Amino acid sequence: MPNLRALLSVTTLAAAAALLAGCAMPGSSEPAPERISELGPVPHPADNPATPAKLALGAQLFIDTRLSGSGKMACQSCHYRELGWTDAKPLSTKDDGGLNTRHTPSLYNVGYQTSWYWDGRATTLEGQVLAAWRGQIGADPAKVAALLNTVPGYKSQFQAVYGSDATPDTIVKSLAAYLRTLVSTDAPWDKYEKGDRNAVSADAKQGFRLFMGKGKCAACHTPPSFGNGGFHNIGLEGGKAKPDLGRFNVTKNEADTSAFKTPTLRSIALSGPYFHDGSVKTLREAVKVMASGGGNDPRKSPILTPTGLTEAEIDQVVAFLQTLTSTEPWVAPKLP
Ligand code: HEC
Ligand code: HEC
Repeated sequence: MPNLRALLSVTTLAAAAALLAGCAMPGSSEPAPERISELGPVPHPADNPATPAKLALGAQLFIDTRLSGSGKMACQSCHYRELGWTDAKPLSTKDDGGLNTRHTPSLYNVGYQTSWYWDGRATTLEGQVLAAWRGQIGADPAKVAALLNTVPGYKSQFQAVYGSDATPDTIVKSLAAYLRTLVSTDAPWDKYEKGDRNAVSADAKQGFRLFMGKGKCAACHTPPSFGNGGFHNIGLEGGKAKPDLGRFNVTKNEADTSAFKTPTLRSIALSGPYFHDGSVKTLREAVKVMASGGGNDPRKSPILTPTGLTEAEIDQVVAFLQTLTSTEPWVAPKLP
């Protein structure tokens, strides 16, 4: 916004125009957007600092099937980069053949979170990684560490990064440090906020206004990551024979019954199907569910009420969400 007092105190038209020009997009009369979507640096914990060599190692471990019990599955088997770090399935099958009860979430922006999983039961990312390594890909961590130490290319990297052979702990640390770098940013919307007025469509701009205003989406999907990590029951478990109690399992607080973590909506267009149960196929349908006030669980969040967004307005919100798709470069690592 222009400084009003400064504007009122200038006497010549030319000076006022110059002041106003400072807050307009280059070459247009359109006011510049507020820069509210800028993601700051990811915090890395003091006991697991990131170094380029450690991150390169973590990237390899993430796609390596030698980390699994069967030797056939990697973290990547459910978290594909081109699918927004998810797997395009409502529910996925683990290394031991068991079916997950919840949909694979995106790994974008996990480094900004303070609790992990749909119900937030993991309180450190390192703890989450160890659990996924054992549970999802069925590893015996000590066995895998021993196996990696027989691979000269791994042994030398662990020596260089940690001054020792691979251990369960250093494998976990490498993976967690790498996950913290999976940041969805530099999307068309970011370019727009930085001043490229042609980076997004008029519909997307209107969709953003609806998202922040009439749609009440930002009450939970707060910028800059468009997900605040808070837990809410959006009503999807209503009427199910055995409802997933979600956050309640962690806190034993009635108010958390069937509440799930508010996911980041960055790169959301890549990661369908949607919601903790993977029950909704398309992004438009997911937006429609939210805009209509969620599902029909009587215990759902009181914040969620029908928003009155019209079909055309829902299209505009979708157009906005599509501008959140990250364009960061990515090269598949080579395995030793
Ligand atoms: C078989 C599919 C599958 C594989 C393989 C898999 N995951 Fe996941 N991942 C999931 C599911 C499902 C969840 C959500 C579970 C829940 O919330 O209860 C999840 C959750 C996560 C989360 C939490 C994200 C958040 O927003 O809270 C992280 C981080 C993660 N996985 C990392 C990994 C790592 C690292 C590996 C490899 C060691 C891995 N995953 C392997 C399916 C998988
Ligand atoms: C009361 C807080 C709240 C409000 C308001 C809200 N959401 Fe959500 N949203 C959530 C939570 C929590 C989830 C995940 C819940 C689940 O899966 O059970 C979610 C999930 C989503 C998903 C699916 C994400 C994924 O990774 O599967 C989309 C898309 C979405 N919301 C869009 C919107 C839009 C658009 C609006 C506004 C019309 C909105 N939300 C309003 C809390 C909220």
